[in-house]
Amino acid sequence: MDKYLLPEDDGLPARTFGKWTTAKTDYLQRYVDLFETSMRGKLWCARCYIDLYSGTGKYQVKGQTGFNLGSPLIGITTKYPFTHYFFADISQENIEILKQRCEPATRLRKNFYVGDANLLAQDIVNEIKFIERSRSKGQWASLNLAFLDPNGLELEWSTIETLASVNKMDFIIYYSQSGPTRNFENCINVEGDTDIDRFFGDRKWRDIYKTSHGKSAGLHRKLIDHYKHKLSTLGYMDVKDIEDGAEPLMKNSKDAPLYRLIFASKHARGHDFWNKIIKKDAFGQGKLF
Ligand SMILES: C[S@@+](CC[C@H](N)C(=O)[O-])C[C@H]1O[C@@H](n2cnc3c(N)ncnc32)[C@H](O)[C@@H]1O
Repeated sequence: MDKYLLPEDDGLPARTFGKWTTAKTDYLQRYVDLFETSMRGKLWCARCYIDLYSGTGKYQVKGQTGFNLGSPLIGITTKYPFTHYFFADISQENIEILKQRCEPATRLRKNFYVGDANLLAQDIVNEIKFIERSRSKGQWASLNLAFLDPNGLELEWSTIETLASVNKMDFIIYYSQSGPTRNFENCINVEGDTDIDRFFGDRKWRDIYKTSHGKSAGLHRKLIDHYKHKLSTLGYMDVKDIEDGAEPLMKNSKDAPLYRLIFASKHARGHDFWNKIIKKDAFGQGKLF
């Protein structure tokens, strides 16, 4: 395989993240591998991978010398690739680097977008719906996985609604825990919409926060349940009954919570896959959350 697609130095820039990022990309890698291995033989008219906060394709871990595949290259290099890829990033430079890294994957259909993911989501959905309309008779709709991994609270609820208008659109969503925890107090009485309001798509979080009386214990559980309830109104499975821990928690080196991954699918099969992969984390540990 070409050096651009391998987890090694290829001379192009790569961002540096904390070591907890390897846990996040490991969950993604195992999910994508399972999803694509299981779904590839079916009659889907397309299987699309949508990565709206793609970055450059590789990253390094702070204090380490090696290189790791980031989410776009995880999607590209899986053994049974998707049929279509949609990559977006607000940074033109990131997309230029990613394009270069993806070049050796000549046979894959890749679409690159520069801009705010919240403004690009509709274009991507239109493209997927176009692919569905042009499918040949006898084929099923498209099967889609969106990995939504911004730096913080850039993902707006309206983007989830837009993507969810595609029938089979599964999500792995970055849920920032440390950022909002630091900002709840500053945002709680702001008159206009804050990033937290836009992330949740409403202000109910403010009531949930107020009734928690400033105690963080259990607060994010309630907020995630609120978010998941909203997902259920879009047709996603209401998975509250699955044991607490369906959203793996990434922590920093001081054991402080950073973020979680929320999985959503309209179909039980997706949740079966997810539950399987979260039984272990990147470090081979059983579920501790
Ligand atoms: C955490 S990084 C993504 C890392 C990537 N998933 C990986 O595994 O390597 C977040 C990315 O989101 C991009 N970004 C931030 N705000 C954005 C926005 N509003 N729309 C699109 N991309 C954005 C940043 O430029 C950055 O590359």
